[in-house]
Amino acid sequence: MVEPASRTLEQLTLSDDFKIEELVDKHALGEMAQSFYELFRVPLRIYSQSERLLAEASEQPELYRYINTLPEAKVALQAVVAAVKNLRPERDGVRYPCITGAEYYVASIRYDGRAIGRMILGPYLPASLREIPRSFTDLDPTIDVKQVRELLPKMARAKEDTVKQIALHLGRTLDLILFSGHRALLASSMHMASVRESFRELQDKNDKLQQAYDRLKELDRLKSNFLATVSHELRTPLTSIIGYSEMLNEGIAGPLVGEQKEFVDTIHNKGEQLLELIKGLLDLSKLESGTMSLRRKNEAAEPIVRDVVATVTPAALKKDVELKVVFEAGLLEMWADAERIRQVLLNLTENAIKFTPAGGVVTVAARMGALTPDPSDEGGLVLLNTSRAAIELSVTDTGIGIAEEERSRVFDAFYQVDSSSTREQGGTGLGLSIVKRLVEGHDGRVRIEANQPTGARFVVLIPVRRATFT
Ligand SMILES: Nc1ncnc2c1ncn2[C@@H]1O[C@H](COP(=O)(O)OP(=O)(O)O)[C@@H](O)[C@H]1O
Ligand SMILES: [Mg+2]
Repeated sequence: MVEPASRTLEQLTLSDDFKIEELVDKHALGEMAQSFYELFRVPLRIYSQSERLLAEASEQPELYRYINTLPEAKVALQAVVAAVKNLRPERDGVRYPCITGAEYYVASIRYDGRAIGRMILGPYLPASLREIPRSFTDLDPTIDVKQVRELLPKMARAKEDTVKQIALHLGRTLDLILFSGHRALLASSMHMASVRESFRELQDKNDKLQQAYDRLKELDRLKSNFLATVSHELRTPLTSIIGYSEMLNEGIAGPLVGEQKEFVDTIHNKGEQLLELIKGLLDLSKLESGTMSLRRKNEAAEPIVRDVVATVTPAALKKDVELKVVFEAGLLEMWADAERIRQVLLNLTENAIKFTPAGGVVTVAARMGALTPDPSDEGGLVLLNTSRAAIELSVTDTGIGIAEEERSRVFDAFYQVDSSSTREQGGTGLGLSIVKRLVEGHDGRVRIEANQPTGARFVVLIPVRRATFT
């Protein structure tokens, strides 16, 4: 959601209750006041609109120090100071006489068309003052007139015009300082506004992404549920179809004549194919939902490999593909669910035979290998995980091979490299996705390499049991 521009602008202009102290540095203000005082010797105070003393440059004149020792004169002086403080001059400054004949000058400080504070200059002696006012000496019978006569001339003397000029200059200097402060404030709030804006946009996108992700996750879960239910429900009637076609074939319901046997054969074969597909789907949904449990034990590779090779021998013979088995001596046992490893190897060897033309060779091999940490894993884990002993099972063929760019995609469910050519070979595209999930369920890894000069090589690494440290 993008905020209206007016709102942002509003944040950039000064608010009504803005304060000088927000725009200028108090220390800088003090320095400025001090240098004015040193130049003109006229005491000077700067107040904010809210009556806070922001800067002061003055020394109490000796005369005033003396007055403060006289009880009655002191009260009169305090009344003057209070009155001066309460002056609220408009555009022009105002003079205010003190009991001593000295004067104060009060002017408002304005910025951007509004009053934001006051400056009070004084006390100073007006140029016109010649005599000590009678009103002053009459104030207190104990006043030492001689003393007063001595102390009064020590105060700064200023012409009315000069005082006005000083106030004017002070005002202009303040205006400059305020302006640069204002500019800095503007720049920083503009920056803040833009950062806030990008942050909000980012957050917005993030939220949308999260929503999309949640939705996808939910869809994925629904899909897995659907797969599981449908596959299960399909399997039951299919068992009947296969069973009855088998019985028909065996002549239990009377002998089959002519093409009848051929047709029933087809029904039976297609039924078996469908059953394989459904089993694959069930496996996949179990793997995806994490409900497939592995029963891991220490297992030797050899019996599993031999069993798989025995299973696929008829298919290899039929296609005129040679089957080879290679074992390295002294293999350790792997930490695995034998039935699942068998399923992995069976899938790979069936594929190898399927995609290898007559006269080709398929080699199933087992040897020691190592699982090195995947560099794409989290950085921290690489440091902890050193390489781990593993059994390397490989299935190599001399068939059509798999192009480099297809190698990661063939592990996707239902993906087949060339659906027209693989269609005639049969298959569903589920085999390799199951292989990958099963292998990763064993904390292992599967990869595809090219065989020279032609063919594919699938390499599966299954870890041996992790050594326990004592
Ligand atoms: N040994 C192989 N040689 C060439 N291509 C292969 C080999 N194994 C798998 N493939 C390719 O990967 C695809 C996916 O394999 P798989 O998941 O087992 O599905 P299916 O065997 O049902 O087609 C195959 O359709 C094929 O295109
Ligand atoms: Mg397959």
